[in-house]
Amino acid sequence: MEAIGTKQAHWDQVYTTKKLEESSWYQPRPNISLGFIQQLSVAKDAAIIDVGGGDSLFVDHLLDLGYQNITVLDLSPKALERAQNRLGERAITVKWILADAAKFEPTEQYDFWHDRAAFHFLTTEADIQHYAQTAAQAIKPGGFLVIGTFSEQGPKKCSGLEIKQYSEQDLVQVFENQFKKILYQQVDHLTPTQAIQQFTFCAFQRTH
Ligand SMILES: C[S@@+](CC[C@H](N)C(=O)[O-])C[C@H]1O[C@@H](n2cnc3c(N)ncnc32)[C@H](O)[C@@H]1O
Repeated sequence: MEAIGTKQAHWDQVYTTKKLEESSWYQPRPNISLGFIQQLSVAKDAAIIDVGGGDSLFVDHLLDLGYQNITVLDLSPKALERAQNRLGERAITVKWILADAAKFEPTEQYDFWHDRAAFHFLTTEADIQHYAQTAAQAIKPGGFLVIGTFSEQGPKKCSGLEIKQYSEQDLVQVFENQFKKILYQQVDHLTPTQAIQQFTFCAFQRTH
């Protein structure tokens, strides 16, 4: 297992040298993720967590839509600081967790767990299993898990780091013990440099 310090240093460096709009993962409006929120009829008072949220605009859009119970988790203090500075006073209404998703020990349960392009950085079986077990415990029965990773046709690296690619079936295999898959979307993400990155997105519901 990689030490949190190494991973944190990498991401802090990214968030001190690259603007949000220059990052390959940048989305002015995270349409796919917001589409899942709508399709799954997530209530405005739902407890939502964005795991590996970085300084993504997902939280801004959720606040604009009237969501009131939002948590953003990331292992980079710089990423969280940037998101907080951007949100200004609105940041006070959001809960911020500085943690490694591979070792996260949640203290509350969530109705909606979202992860776009963070889970795929976990490359050891132990980290992947820990993540799946944590999600299973931290998501309320009947609650949702939305995961977006690079697909098997997507890039092999992200931000210079090795990632693990997933097909729909691969994601099902990781989470099938406690979740049933309810939605799947293959997504072509257009980066700010006009490259296409193919993502696999799945929504799961916790069954028991
Ligand atoms: C490619 S960016 C995606 C950011 C955001 N989810 C989005 O879609 O715009 C990956 C993010 O995951 C975070 N990250 C990477 N590994 C992580 C881990 N093990 N635990 C928590 N966050 C992690 C990074 O700091 C970074 O903010």
